[in-house]
Amino acid sequence: IGLVPTMGALHRGHLSLIEKAFNENDVVWVSIFINPTQFNNSNDLINYPKNLKNDELLIKKISKSIEIFSPNEFEIYGENPKIKTYDFKTIDNELEGRFRKNHFNGVATIVSKLLNLFKPNNVYFGEKDYQQTQIIKKLISLEKINVNLNICPTVREKNGLALSSRNNFLSYSERNDASIIYKSLILLKNNFNTSNLISTKKEIKNNINKKKNFQLEYLEIADASTLKIQSKINPKNSYRAFICVRVNDIRLIDNILLN
Ligand code: PAF
Repeated sequence: IGLVPTMGALHRGHLSLIEKAFNENDVVWVSIFINPTQFNNSNDLINYPKNLKNDELLIKKISKSIEIFSPNEFEIYGENPKIKTYDFKTIDNELEGRFRKNHFNGVATIVSKLLNLFKPNNVYFGEKDYQQTQIIKKLISLEKINVNLNICPTVREKNGLALSSRNNFLSYSERNDASIIYKSLILLKNNFNTSNLISTKKEIKNNINKKKNFQLEYLEIADASTLKIQSKINPKNSYRAFICVRVNDIRLIDNILLN
């Protein structure tokens, strides 16, 4: 059994996970559920894009045999959604965790429910949400769940913009301008082993903030496993760069392996 958990508004990134799951399992379930407990902003929850009919068409185009689970809130949580609190050893407080209080407890609550419901052999997530994948890795070990975690490459537009359901909210020109996010990560990667790192970060911030409606929320270099922000680099460790850019009220995130 392969499980692909999603919140719907499927794009090519999700479809690549579903195709991989389809090639590697006898039975594939795609869950589509906008999980209220992971939203710390009620407007974000209300406005989250929904397109169940189209999602079903896209899934069935891959194969009619793929099963879809699209429960309502009551079926998952009963009368009052309860969020479980986990001890993720601080990785939930770094990066996204600083801006989205309790978000990762909400993600872990729903993923734990889905894993216990379907008992899949394989579960699939995209690397765009790298911090989420590390939270789920911890969740699986904390709850001793017997499942293979498959972390799959980020799918991008031609201009480098990572696919995200939130891109639907961008205007045509904002979508073009948002290519600066991935270009910035590449620039940082190319300067990772040089003494230009601080000036490169400054240059990136200026260039992003110059774009209409764009604001850099963070650009950090962090240890790939602890997600702790690093200023001193130890060549023996692995690092990633993490970025979040606000376009009006829309938060776009991305990340890249640096070494
Ligand atoms: O990445 C997502 O779409 C969600 O966080 C997930 C994993 C489906 C949990 O609601």
